Parts: sequence; structure tokens; C-alpha cells
Amino acid sequence: MPLDIVVGAQWGDEGKGRIVDLLSAQAEFTARYNGGDNAGHTVTVGDKTFRLHLLPSGIIHPNTRCVIGNGVVVNPAVLLEEMETLRAAGISVTPERLQISFAAPLITPAHRALDAAQEAARGGAKIGTTLRGIGPAYTDKVSRAGLRVGQMLDADSFTTALREHVLRVNQLLSRLYQAEPIAVEAVIQQYLDYSRQIKDYIGDVSHLLWEALKSGKRVLAEGAQGTLLDLDHGTYPYVTSSNTVAAGALIGLGLGMGFVERVVGVTKAFQTRVGSGPFPTELTGELAVHLRGTGEHPWDEFGTTTGRPRRVGWLDTVLLRYAARLNGLTELALTKLDILSGLNPVRICVAYRRNGRELRDLPYGLSGLEQYEPVYQDLPGWEEEIRSLRQWEDLPPRARAYILRIEELCGVPVRLVSVGPERQQVIEIS
Ligand code: GDP
Ligand code: IMO
Ligand code: MG
Repeated sequence: MPLDIVVGAQWGDEGKGRIVDLLSAQAEFTARYNGGDNAGHTVTVGDKTFRLHLLPSGIIHPNTRCVIGNGVVVNPAVLLEEMETLRAAGISVTPERLQISFAAPLITPAHRALDAAQEAARGGAKIGTTLRGIGPAYTDKVSRAGLRVGQMLDADSFTTALREHVLRVNQLLSRLYQAEPIAVEAVIQQYLDYSRQIKDYIGDVSHLLWEALKSGKRVLAEGAQGTLLDLDHGTYPYVTSSNTVAAGALIGLGLGMGFVERVVGVTKAFQTRVGSGPFPTELTGELAVHLRGTGEHPWDEFGTTTGRPRRVGWLDTVLLRYAARLNGLTELALTKLDILSGLNPVRICVAYRRNGRELRDLPYGLSGLEQYEPVYQDLPGWEEEIRSLRQWEDLPPRARAYILRIEELCGVPVRLVSVGPERQQVIEIS
């Protein structure tokens, strides 16, 4: 009765969607457990590219069923639009294939307006959020004032709760932030319409997955964002508002602890970050352009959700070791190795230095990360283009040495190496 968890091991955008697409071929269910439409997960199959924000990446496989867990904050406008886009691409999206937890918090236009107002008020200290209302929706959940998907099943009480919610947020918007209030009745009409469209998809995800796991079926949990953006364990306050780590899968899906088998950490072969916050190995100049690209390829480092250029740098194995520990990773999936072709040397951050002392682990987690200077090891680079390779033995010896060094530094085996965005551009290591 295995539950496998796919988790981002960096600051998000590691290629989780691409790895979940691969692994979900063997799963009965794929389940999103955290975040909301701040996520952007890309899956490329042949000449089709799907950019998923709320639906699990397993939806592309016709035989995989999908669920959205209670840990996910759901904007029904985005959800319905995404369902339509997929249907237009020939993918079946029915209540048999998709269930949404009744306990998932709802995002409303009021949350989005509050996100924007709070970011503006932060000025130079802004987090660089995706402005999707994620923080305010989770804040409402924790303060026990939030709306949940299940409330959409009863129009009368939902209308009352929604009106109270918008009026309350309007007070904050106009009095605290001098921002425009939201038109209450329009939101109510819109959300009643969404309720009619979504009601058949609302279910008890925890129970559904428990039944599946008990009968021996495989469930794949798909994380959004990454370990370093975790609310508790990330680079606070420059984090998202959910628990992105593997443990979040159990809470965010309503599952007990005994089911977990594989915990797959997805990491790029280098480091990226979008939004504010510390980034010890960040690069600028020509090297940054090499890693980021200039926007001509679909995989270049510009945000899937916001289009912002991503910050880029060398792989940081101090942070990767941290992710291995926090998630209990059983294996790594290494993506975008192809991007390193043509760089010489290839650098890996192996430790940090502060006041003349070298550290392999951080004394207070990620707090104060900006005070550390990276210590690098240089490895010889490789020239060869590797996107067409499918076997470990065919990789250039220097690329293999790079992977083996990552394994050694993190103490976790690399089981998948992605050498391009397409489904078959992958090397499995047994
Ligand atoms: P996610 O949020 O973790 O699912 O990652 P994103 O989809 O936001 O960003 C990953 C980007 O890298 C997408 O454009 C993918 O198509 C692309 N990608 C994934 N794996 C590879 C790879 O091995 N090589 C290249 N060139 N692109 C990749
Ligand atoms: P996927 O699932 C990368 C970042 C934002 C910002 C911070 C807080 O595609 O990997 P939020 O809107 O969540 O309050 O923003 O988190 N962020 C992501 N960065 N990938 C993501 O998702 C992200 N989701 C949020 O840029 O710095
Ligand atoms: Mg992404």
C-alpha cells in the first residue's frame, strides 16, 4: 500500500510536474497536497505543453485519477478554467477522474486584493509573491475565519459566509491599506455559479485515498513549491504560506504515516529562485545568461505562473543536504542536466564560510542565510549535447562524475536524470 511523495528540493520550479508525469504512469491516484495556483507545473508530451496550476500533473495520463487535498487553497475560477483548457486539449476531466477535498480552503477575489495590498505596503521588503491570494487564504484558514470548498454545497449558508468574508476583507482593504474594496454581490453571484459547476467534484479525499492504499493501490503525492519555501523550514519570511515538505503530504491529504514508501526530491542541476530572499550561490553576467536562457526556449528560466525571470546560480549542496534531511528523501531526480553542457568548470557549493570558519550544516536552519559565503568545488565540465541520451553509460564521464559527486555530498542516490523537458528525455539509474 505505497504512498510515494514527490517534493521540490529547492525554491520551486525544479521540474516536479515533469517528474510526476513520469511516475504517475504507475499510480492509481495523483494527489496535490499544498499550495494553490501560485504553482506552475509544466508537462511536455510530444508537441504538446501543459502548464498546470491546480490540477495534479497526473491528469495527462488517461488512466490516472486525480485529487486535490485539503492542504491546497483553491481558486475556483482558476480551477474551472484549467479544467476547460485540458478538455479542449482532449483530456477527460470528470468527477470520476477528479475529486476535490471538501476541507480545502477557498481563495476569493478579496484574498487576491489583500495579497496585492500587503505586498505594496511591504515596499522594499516585499516578498515577491505571485499575487494569487495564497498568503491571505492560508491566514484565514489558520485564524479560523476561512471559507472551505465543502461550503459550496449549500447555497444559502455559503452566500451568508461569503458576504461576511468579503465585507470583513473590505474593511482591511479600505481602512488599513487605502485600497479599493471588492464588489460583494458580484463575487457572490460568481461564486454561486462556480458552486454549480464544481459540486459534483467535491468529495472526501482522505477517505478515497485511504481506501485505495488499503487495497494495495499506488498513490503519488505531488508537492508544489519547494523545501526552501516551506513556511516553517524555508528562508522565512521569504517563503510561501504552506508546508511544502514531504510531511505536508500527510496533513494535506489526510493520511496516516504508515503508507509512505518513496520520497523523491526533485532538484535542478543548478539553483533557481523567483521572488525575494537570500540566495548564496546566485550568479550574474554571462554565466547567469547561460543558465537562465534568453526566453527563446520553452524551458528557459522565466516563471510559469508570473513570467518573471528567475534568479539563477550554482547548485548548492548545503541546501540540498538540508532538503534531504527535512524530507527524509529516499532518492533524487535531477533535472535540466542538459543546460550545463558547454560550461567549464561546473561548480558545486559544498560548504559555507563565515568569519573564517567553514560549515557543512547551518546552526539555525536557514535563518541568517545571507551571512554565509559559499565554498565551491570545481569539477571539469563537458561540451557534449546530451538531450538525445537515454542510458547512464552514454553520458559523458564528466557528467557522470558530477552526478556521483552530488550523491556523495547529499547521501541520497540519484535515480532519475532528466536531460530535456519531454516525457522520454530521461535516464533511469537502477
Ligand atoms: P515545477 O514547478 O517544479 O513543475 O517546474 P516548472 O514547470 O515551473 O519549471 C521547470 C521547467 O523546466 C519547465 O519549463 C520544464 O518543461 C523544464 N524542464 C524540466 N526538466 C527539464 C530538463 O531536464 N531539461 C530542460 N531543458 N528542461 C526541463
Ligand atoms: P511551483 O509549484 C517558484 C514563490 C514566490 C514568492 C514566494 C511567496 O511551480 O514550484 P506566494 O504567492 O506563494 O505567497 O509567494 O514563493 N513561489 C514560487 N516559486 N515556484 C513556485 O511554485 C512558487 N510558488 C510560490 O515567487 O517568492
Ligand atoms: Mg513551477
